Amino acid sequence: MLRSVVLGVGSSLPRRVMKNADFEGVVETSDEWIVQRTGIRQRHIAAADETTASLGEAAARAALAACGLQPADIDLIVLATSTPNNTFPATAVDIQNRLGMHHGFAFDMQAVCSGFVYAMTTADLYLRGAMAKRALVIGSETFSRILDWTDRSTCVLFGDGAGAVVLEAQQGTGTLVDRGILASSLRSDGAHKDKLFVDGGPSTTGTVGHLRMEGREVFKHAVAMITDVIEATAGAAGISIDQLDWFVPHQANRRIIEASAKKLGIPDEKVVLTVDRHGNTSAASVPLALSEAVADGRIKRGDLVLLEAMGGGFTWGAVLIRW
Ligand code: UT7
Repeated sequence: MLRSVVLGVGSSLPRRVMKNADFEGVVETSDEWIVQRTGIRQRHIAAADETTASLGEAAARAALAACGLQPADIDLIVLATSTPNNTFPATAVDIQNRLGMHHGFAFDMQAVCSGFVYAMTTADLYLRGAMAKRALVIGSETFSRILDWTDRSTCVLFGDGAGAVVLEAQQGTGTLVDRGILASSLRSDGAHKDKLFVDGGPSTTGTVGHLRMEGREVFKHAVAMITDVIEATAGAAGISIDQLDWFVPHQANRRIIEASAKKLGIPDEKVVLTVDRHGNTSAASVPLALSEAVADGRIKRGDLVLLEAMGGGFTWGAVLIRW
């Protein structure tokens, strides 16, 4: 049985750090409100020369370097983003070109904050279906470009950045001892599409639009949806939650992460938290957190790692990996 094994992880953050105090004179808010309600202390904001493609390219190069591979070794790129450089072509082909790759195939996935979990699941199916041998799965976002900087209920929450992993199809035994993606579950429910959306688009307004969110409504659904899909994923793999070594959740709000972990019985020391330094980077948040926990030695070969995300759509999902 083929398994999609993670070979390397990398990330890239814009140069500029914006601290909560830097919102003074931008909107009426306070460091205290932002930290108490979200856990966010700072976020990175892309300069004009930093784009979803350039950040994604840098993260991809870092992931390749981490496992000693070259772009020539990759034959699939899946980019999760809701902030593409252009309406089309896919930013994934821009990254493919920047990497000097003129073989294989590349495409974008749009599932907002769940994008990376959707992209990992999709790449896994291509690898296990033998349509590709090695994939770059990237989450890259420049949400600062679609924020309404006069709306304090949203502009303090988001940041920019990118993370990437290299996946390789390897022969496994089909049991839980295999390395690689062991199970994943994806969900969506468009009944909630107006609770977190961008109020523009090519087919409606002809503009890019701005992010709009009913934060309290999203919050209300988040914990139940997250815990449900995690239990489904663990169940599909035949593991119990206490067997997990690491929980790498989407980084939207510290309170949502802590409430989900508590409901599932996952202790704090197994939870990877980066929301304090990155804010919500949408599809980039999970690979950014993964990259940090791998680089500092927390996530090690053989560990059971659970990725989870929930966001606009609503979309939500989870991926279980033997590292
Ligand atoms: O990544 C996709 C998933 N997204 C999420 O998971 C986000 C989910 N939602 C949340 O994280 C939270 O709902 C927020 C952080 C967005 C908001 O926290 P909350 O505890 O739900 O606050 P709230 O929206 O109920 O607002 C409470 C108060 C309001 O004032 P009133 O109506 O009580 O007088 C807001 O106007 O806080 C006010 N407020 C602010 N005050 C200072 C809203 N934004 C701010 C702000 N600074 N930036």
